[in-house]
Amino acid sequence: MYIGVDYYPEHWTRERWGTDARLMQEAGFNVVRLSEFAWSFMEPEEGRFDFSLFDEALAVLASRGISAIMGTPTAVMPAWVARKYPETLAMKTDGTRKVWGVRKNNCFTSGAYRLLSERITRAMAEHFAQAPNVIGWQTDNEFGAQVCNCPTCRADFHDWLRAKYRSLEVLNSAWGTHFWGHLYSEWAEIPLPDDMSSHNPGLCLDWMRYNSWLNVRFQHDQVAILRALCPGQFVTHNTMSFHLPLNYYDLCEELDFASWDNYPVWGPPEVLYNSAAGGDLVRGFKGKNFWIMEQTAGPGGWSTFGRNPRPGEIRLVSYQQVAHGCDGLLWFRWRSCTAGREQYWHGLLGHDGKALRRYREAAQTAQELQRLAPELDGTTVQAEVAILYDYDSIWAENIQPSFPGNQLFQQALSRFYDPLFRAGVNVDIIPASADFSKYALLIAPELYVLPDALAQRLDAYVRAGGVLITDVRTGVKTETNLCHERTLPGLLADALGITIEEYEALSGTVDGKPFVYQVNGRQIIDGAFTATGYVDWVTPQGAEVLAGYSFPWHLADFAAATRHHYGQGWGYYVGTVVAEAAFYDALLHDALTTAGVTSLVAPPPGVEVSLRCGNGKRLLFVLNQTEEPQTVTVPAGYQELLSGTTTTETITLERSGVAVIKLA
Ligand code: GLA
Ligand code: ZN
Repeated sequence: MYIGVDYYPEHWTRERWGTDARLMQEAGFNVVRLSEFAWSFMEPEEGRFDFSLFDEALAVLASRGISAIMGTPTAVMPAWVARKYPETLAMKTDGTRKVWGVRKNNCFTSGAYRLLSERITRAMAEHFAQAPNVIGWQTDNEFGAQVCNCPTCRADFHDWLRAKYRSLEVLNSAWGTHFWGHLYSEWAEIPLPDDMSSHNPGLCLDWMRYNSWLNVRFQHDQVAILRALCPGQFVTHNTMSFHLPLNYYDLCEELDFASWDNYPVWGPPEVLYNSAAGGDLVRGFKGKNFWIMEQTAGPGGWSTFGRNPRPGEIRLVSYQQVAHGCDGLLWFRWRSCTAGREQYWHGLLGHDGKALRRYREAAQTAQELQRLAPELDGTTVQAEVAILYDYDSIWAENIQPSFPGNQLFQQALSRFYDPLFRAGVNVDIIPASADFSKYALLIAPELYVLPDALAQRLDAYVRAGGVLITDVRTGVKTETNLCHERTLPGLLADALGITIEEYEALSGTVDGKPFVYQVNGRQIIDGAFTATGYVDWVTPQGAEVLAGYSFPWHLADFAAATRHHYGQGWGYYVGTVVAEAAFYDALLHDALTTAGVTSLVAPPPGVEVSLRCGNGKRLLFVLNQTEEPQTVTVPAGYQELLSGTTTTETITLERSGVAVIKLA
């Protein structure tokens, strides 16, 4: 297993490198990531390459048995690039260029930038292909689909649209440009939307698709070179999990595996739902295990900074990722830097370079994980439950959130993800193109863009015995962001057994409190709950009512939540956003029972369980994310791999404690 740190030898004197490499080796680290911001060191002037700094660093690292991942350095252009080729800097909406400095400020269509990117990538690939301890590559750094408004991007967007729609007649009808008389008669007339909240929704959605595709194309140019010249080395990219503007399924398609950067320790100590979901999402980018390319090592921040990971947390958040399918892990960064904007993004070592508490905890984690590695080998998470994560819906809802505060799909996902976490059930997060049939329960929150073919696949999934849950704003849009000419939920009406003829958003406040309605649960969702944000006026057409409204009077005849037996399966619908987590816990409990999904362990609040299986092995991870010891009922008579003890009926985990139980 590869475990290590993001290392910046260019930040330190050569005299220090030996100490760094020795401390890394003593910690049990065997990999570093290098060079992703070092373009100006490697190409100090155009066309003159100098890799001596990294050759020397690689040799020092090799002497301690440490391998390296090289980063292509295109996230920061050298100053000479901006000086010689000003058009490589991205253009803002006001027509001025970004100021050089910081990073990630380039235009992705600039011919000069693409050529320079290919040239440094090729030079690095040629140089490091044979380096004995270079094992792989990271493309760029945290691609983000940043937007550029320059004339080249505009012309390129027009080409992309022409390739997609072929004729303006098709485009005009796809976007509905009859509205406000926005008909186009020349491709060049199509603007770059400078305000996503007021331009044509079809234009805005395609602009997002285009900018995402631009990053994929830019990366492709690098990957093609690395594949040709470095066949023995892997290629990955450090994604930002839920970062919204970039379609990571597309970006990861030609990579060997996906990676991500995980910084969960920021606010007060809390249950780490989001980083659990982040790991599941990134595993879904390629449907396989992933790496953490940057992991919380200390307080983080650029000007002010956050809290310090408490004793046990550096280890805990690492095990959490391993429990979700992480197979390689690097802490960001090795040592807090004394210069530059990230002086306060602390590493395992402080500014003083001493190997102290955070270092020792990472070292303990690394050594434990190395002992665990043979057991982990060939295992992954095998979930029976999946949540759909569909960029078209996410982007279209980001453009028109329907109700205030609905810009972040992650909130919709959490409504369903967190109860599954609490129930101790593993989850896959999957694209709409995935095969649904292997899942007993499929959850599609806010599936806003619903092409007919997808609706038909979901209908077939339920008919064949699947259990589907979906909720508000599902089925509203076509793939070109027009509203369907159908009563909601459109083609899902049969599977869900409902119709929605009207709906409303709840915005504003009453007497200083949010404007809300009241939900009363029946049967399995017993209790009184609060409807926030949005309400569908759901009329059951054969579906059972699981919850209705007790206030106001005009909703008395409508359902808040339903379930419907359809074919061999079930369709659940929730027509509002309920404030209380208990509502979703009860709903999920019922849906899991209906789907026949059980969990091995019923964890106490704040304890996470996850199962990795494969090659005949079954490893149960139990993670205490509370600040108190927790006792958990677990299968008895199995080996707990970290302590070497045999489990009895219960185990007690210290605060931030971890157990890995070998069930087979
Ligand atoms: C990101 C980047 C790193 C660093 C950290 C902390 O994850 O990839 O280079 O900037 O954030 O700011
Ligand atoms: Zn541009």
